[in-house]
Amino acid sequence: MYKILVTGGAGFIGANFVRHMLRHSDCTITVLDKLTYAGNKDSLSDLPANRVKLIVGDIADAPLVNRLISTHDTVVHFAAESHNDNSLRDPSAFVRTNVVGTFELLEAVRKHGVRFHHISTDEVYGDLELDDPQRFTETTPYQPSSPYSATKASSDLLVRAWVRSFGITATLSNCSNNYGPYQHVEKFIPRQITNVLCGAKPKLYGNGMNVRDWIHVNDHSSAVQRILDAGQPGRTYLIGADGEQNNLQVLQQILEIMGLPTDEFDWIGDRPGHDLRYAIDATPLREELGWNPEHGDFSAGLEHTIAWYSEHRQWWESSKILTENHYAQQQMIQG
Ligand code: NAD
Ligand code: DAU
Repeated sequence: MYKILVTGGAGFIGANFVRHMLRHSDCTITVLDKLTYAGNKDSLSDLPANRVKLIVGDIADAPLVNRLISTHDTVVHFAAESHNDNSLRDPSAFVRTNVVGTFELLEAVRKHGVRFHHISTDEVYGDLELDDPQRFTETTPYQPSSPYSATKASSDLLVRAWVRSFGITATLSNCSNNYGPYQHVEKFIPRQITNVLCGAKPKLYGNGMNVRDWIHVNDHSSAVQRILDAGQPGRTYLIGADGEQNNLQVLQQILEIMGLPTDEFDWIGDRPGHDLRYAIDATPLREELGWNPEHGDFSAGLEHTIAWYSEHRQWWESSKILTENHYAQQQMIQG
């Protein structure tokens, strides 16, 4: 049986990927996750123990990583500090996990000859003007803006160098903004949904015109599975589903679905260095690997996501309080 080590599998995308692979393959999975504030073992607790095992540990722990990787066929590397706002508050954990942690994994896959897939972000390419006809492609120059995206860019470059210099078998993917169940309440869509569910007003940064290219998390998972099956070693694939919308449009759809007036939110100060627009051209993934997203209907995806948060209050309620306290402190610092 095929054995996959999934780093960060108790986080948002990792947990959805584990669920996807259980449904769509016969692999067994070991999740290596530090269970930081962003990891939640309840995201995996209903899964069959004969197929999924959780190891609580740090990807920067070289002996642990070495031992685990030596007994697996493939590593899919999701673990990261993932939130831009946190990286502005304290970047140190981002450097340690995203850069040093990725380095330790690369050294272990090099030693044991194990296949590696690196999960990354479109934010490594910086941002686009609203009217720029170009979208990001695999040859777009790297120009990260935030400490988070700079550390993800660094990790991508490490993977590319390990491919070229040491011949490891690795692929990379850079995906756009994901949404769906099990996403931490610090992120835009779940923050606004849970604000409404708690009787608080949603919060919109700046003028609300920043554009994100939304993709349902299950489409991200199917793309990664396709790359694992058919991706060319050494290649970078961009994952996106033509889902560009500005933040105001997304927030107004959430309010509408939740039965509130579309102006029932607070405008708040902007994120420093806030990227204006991301947009992915996923043509090679579609044409060369034959991948197609199945969840292109954004309002249906949003309705389903809202229903999930309404029905899973226990999953998010305790982190909601901590998250909003952090945001309140950050706003006080920024004035
Ligand atoms: P997340 O913050 O929800 O989950 C990250 C997981 O990594 C958590 O379970 C956390 O406990 C774990 N982790 C953190 N540091 C660790 C360490 N040192 N050792 C082991 N585990 C550790 O993040 P996410 O949104 O699921 O993102 C997953 C990956 O996908 C990241 O690499 C991110 O850069 C990338 N990505 C995210 C998006 C998005 O829209 N969320 C889009 C493109 C790419
Ligand atoms: O593009 C991929 C990236 O998408 C991933 O690499 C990151 O891990 C992921 O967090 C996400 O980054 P963003 O910074 O785009 O996501 P976030 O959910 O933090 O914010 C989305 C947009 O919404 C952004 O323009 C900022 C805005 N925003 C965010 C929050 C939390 C608000 O207007 N209000 C908010 O309360």
